[in-house]
Amino acid sequence: MKFFIDSAQIEEIREAIALGVCDGVTTNPSLVAKTGKSFDQVIAEITEIVDGPISLETTAMDVDGMVKEARALAARHDNVVVKIPMTREGMQATKICFEEGISTNVTLIFSPLQALLAAKAGATYVSPFIGRLDDISTEGMSLISDIVDVFGNYAFDTEIIVASVRHPIHILDSARMGADICTIPFGVIKKLYDHPLTDIGIQKFLSDWEKVPK
Ligand code: G3P
Repeated sequence: MKFFIDSAQIEEIREAIALGVCDGVTTNPSLVAKTGKSFDQVIAEITEIVDGPISLETTAMDVDGMVKEARALAARHDNVVVKIPMTREGMQATKICFEEGISTNVTLIFSPLQALLAAKAGATYVSPFIGRLDDISTEGMSLISDIVDVFGNYAFDTEIIVASVRHPIHILDSARMGADICTIPFGVIKKLYDHPLTDIGIQKFLSDWEKVPK
């Protein structure tokens, strides 16, 4: 299973790379806005240090506008994956990108049929948002299970990026279901390392070590 970091903050991305858990990066307009930097600067910083897919989102809503943005983003770096929203226009743009060899990540997916449409359009990745479903009392992980089942019935190359991850159990469940990738906020990545029994065990080993004659 691949871990992407869901962030546009260069320091977080740098730390995730140092930890060895950054197989790629996903961003969205909200994450870019949080940096306080221009999109151009964010792209330059991330493409400089990340050796893996980097999702950058289009903001046009019409097919021509999306494709134009997609071409410009893809031209920035070989690692760029163009993020396109799950709309009718978005699926037309995704198909054009597929024909032009531009990698795409279809975002804001909330149903298995939306994922199927994106795969049929030739999306490289689909991003189902599970936390936002949980937020409205709908089981986000059921969506992942359904998409894994549907994709498993066919020969799509489209990979599933579990997005809108909020806590470690989302990642555990995704791994159990066989999702290809989780894109994870840095705060949640850090939590994956922690266990109180590990801390207690280390303390005990260190205090016992003090008793060993030197
Ligand atoms: O990858 C999508 C993600 O950034 C959305 O997360 O927490 O805003 O639902 P959230």
